[in-house]
Amino acid sequence: MPTPLQSHFDNKGSWSDLWQIKKTPWDRGFVSPSLVELIEERKFPVIPDNARENAATPIGIVPGCGKGYDVAYLSRALDAQVYGYDIAPEAVELAKAQYPDTNNDRINFLVADFFKELPEGVEGRVDFGFDYTFLCALHPSLRPTWAARWSEVMKPGGHLIALMHPITGHQGGPPYALTPELYQELLGDNFENVYFEKPGKMHEGESSAKDMMSVWRRK
Ligand SMILES: C[S@@+](CC[C@H](N)C(=O)[O-])C[C@H]1O[C@@H](n2cnc3c(N)ncnc32)[C@H](O)[C@@H]1O
Repeated sequence: MPTPLQSHFDNKGSWSDLWQIKKTPWDRGFVSPSLVELIEERKFPVIPDNARENAATPIGIVPGCGKGYDVAYLSRALDAQVYGYDIAPEAVELAKAQYPDTNNDRINFLVADFFKELPEGVEGRVDFGFDYTFLCALHPSLRPTWAARWSEVMKPGGHLIALMHPITGHQGGPPYALTPELYQELLGDNFENVYFEKPGKMHEGESSAKDMMSVWRRK
């Protein structure tokens, strides 16, 4: 049985179309509770020790950010410059409209392909990233490129927060099913896994059975 989104992509639909027709079942309207939990309750030190040296502002990125809830949250919670990327202009327009207060220019939304563009000066200098419902949105053939791209953009010591989802074992996608072993295979050469826990906080009505929270430190 194809997933509803799979039929859309099989028929040559795009992410942009989905945003246009408001078929965005992944959009829960709030920041990811598991991310808030990691930072505020489990107190994972997302910002690397050297990131604020010489009064620098830490830099974060969120590819496939949709309406940008996680971008705005990370910028405010971590006092950081955060760039949210989405390939769909409609998503970025909605994100900008939703967060007109840019937290002193620290919340940034860009129409950009994660695999191709980053703002000037950011490549290789990223202190942290958040990847949720992005890897599962990509065709499996893109997974090695996904891993190579994260390795390229992050600075040594930087943290990639990967909220693994959906760990379901189903066929086809998007969303494509993922496994912790797959993340290890993709990231293991260039990142060290420094956090791996079941999230306790989820969006209302969702179970944590399909998710794992993980953090990977760039070697
Ligand atoms: C499943 S949605 C998740 C959106 C958001 N993370 C959320 O949870 O609300 C995947 C998003 O990735 C975007 N996307 C797909 N390929 C992309 C790429 N190569 N670069 C940037 N964004 C991309 C899509 O437009 C879509 O908004």
